[in-house]
Amino acid sequence: MCLVGKDIPENGADVAHLKELHPPAIHEFINTWNPSPPPEIHKASMQMQVVTYFFKIPIITMNMNVEQIGPALVHLYVKSFAGIEGVITQHVVPVKPFEQKVIHRVYFNRGILGKLFAKFVVIGESIMFERDIRIWREKKYLSNPRLVKEDSAIAKFRKWFKQFYSDNSVTTTNIDW
Ligand SMILES: [Fe+2]
Repeated sequence: MCLVGKDIPENGADVAHLKELHPPAIHEFINTWNPSPPPEIHKASMQMQVVTYFFKIPIITMNMNVEQIGPALVHLYVKSFAGIEGVITQHVVPVKPFEQKVIHRVYFNRGILGKLFAKFVVIGESIMFERDIRIWREKKYLSNPRLVKEDSAIAKFRKWFKQFYSDNSVTTTNIDW
């Protein structure tokens, strides 16, 4: 259970955790996490290249354009070899205090190659997501975390995410749904 729904999309801005938690895929950032300019301030995006290795041999390269839309929806536009392209959607649905349901939907080209690629993505995504869950379960919220330079996207993300809270938002001391 993660502390708040924000923890899940914060993953994208947490650049440093990718190398530690998500091998054998290597994430190369083309554009790191950035809020969109007005009037689309409810959006943010990043572009990256993900290369998956098998015994140190790069086997699959994916170019990803990640779009965060509001607090609970992420669209990942993916392009890979041989014309493979698709969209992965991630929805975070609050279930009860400290518990969210995350729905991943994966869409790729028709035909056998698209189907196989979609399977590869679903399996990879499940393995990687499980690793994140293990961290989220142990995570503690610090209102003033000490962030190093490499964590600058996390500070940007938290500032951007604040727009989705109001004075009446439920807090950890007021979780009576
Ligand atoms: Fe992660």
